Amino acid sequence: MVLRKFEEISLAANYHLIELPVFEDTELFTRGVGESTDVVTKEMYTFEDRGGRSLTLRPEGTAGVMRSIIENNLDRGQLPVKVFYKGPFFRAERPQAGRYRQFYQFGIEAVGIDDPYLDAEVISIAYKGFKKLGLNNFELHITSLGDEESRARHRVEFTKFLSQIDLDDETRSRVNKNPLRIFDDKRTDIQQKIASAPLLIDYLNDVSASKFADLKLALTQLDIPFTLNPRMVRGLDYYTGTAFEFVHGGLGAQSGIGGGGRYDGLMKTLGGQDLSGIGFGLGIDRIILALESEGLSASAQLAGEYLDLFIIPINSAAKSLGLSLLEEARNSGFVADMGFGDRSLKGAMKAADKLSARYVLVIGESELQSGTGKIKRMSDGFEESITLSSLVNALKNAL
Ligand code: HAM
Repeated sequence: MVLRKFEEISLAANYHLIELPVFEDTELFTRGVGESTDVVTKEMYTFEDRGGRSLTLRPEGTAGVMRSIIENNLDRGQLPVKVFYKGPFFRAERPQAGRYRQFYQFGIEAVGIDDPYLDAEVISIAYKGFKKLGLNNFELHITSLGDEESRARHRVEFTKFLSQIDLDDETRSRVNKNPLRIFDDKRTDIQQKIASAPLLIDYLNDVSASKFADLKLALTQLDIPFTLNPRMVRGLDYYTGTAFEFVHGGLGAQSGIGGGGRYDGLMKTLGGQDLSGIGFGLGIDRIILALESEGLSASAQLAGEYLDLFIIPINSAAKSLGLSLLEEARNSGFVADMGFGDRSLKGAMKAADKLSARYVLVIGESELQSGTGKIKRMSDGFEESITLSSLVNALKNAL
């Protein structure tokens, strides 16, 4: 149901499903995600196939989307290419609450156009989904990593700063690959050492600063509250410009329920045109934990939004009539289900309640005899008498 919510919102914004392979050539991720990242250095499930090729279970979706766009020439068509994807991803991390070696993401990518209003659209899709699920205890953090020129200007000052502080060899070598990674370091002594470090956000050139200003205006226009977090470091190396994370307050250490940003050089690095893109990945497992922490149940609460009718048959003749009525209701676009098995009326009513069905129709002897029945509105118990042959019309009027 969580997935369905994000799918609906994405479809309404003209994003379409892209199916991606679960494993890809290892090189796609080493080149795409970046050699300074934990994801590539420590967390990939890499293996050789029978032909001696090195393959990797996908740790994320963006690189695969780029490969697919390039291979299928989608970048030569209408831009932006807008896609969404969902499914299992794999990272060999130490498992803990909210952190799994196989986890599920819903992601979207809008590729080929560099426009802060598109950034706002992407962020708004995630935000709207969280709100529609009923989540409240979360924050949106944003920053800008600037363009190449801004990052180069910052890197000069930042490297100078880092060369003056004392770092162990491992940290030094990580920082040499990507200086920004140091902000990811959770150790308090390191955090103290970099407390006064020069921040990239203060080195944005006019173009990058004006894009970031437009993004903030657009988010404000859409009533999306955000917090500026210039020390945010995304775990993947391809980000440029806008970067964002959704952080939930009820999850402890693994608080990121989704994140994303713009990636300028990724497509070119992977052998395609020099096109920019933006997207996000949402952690479905963590979203479910977040719902639970706010006292919301992912299944029951949401199932109700889609279950229009629940039929309760009392015997097998009633079940047979119920089967035809289900077909009619479903063919007319209603989401309908029936109490299969031999449940008592009480048990079946409980099931209807748990599924948050909007209407319930009980079919017993008298309904079979008379061809009439009552649809019961579960929210307040109101009952309406109907002719069973016109169930669909009754539902149309009622819903
Ligand atoms: P990411 O921040 O690495 O971004 O992952 C996105 C989300 O996946 C995280 O915010 C988190 O909720 C979830 N997640 C990551 N690792 C785990 C894990 N081990 N267990 C449970 N949940 C996890 C990306 O993957 C980018 N591809 C997002 C993106 C799309 N950027 C641009 N386009």
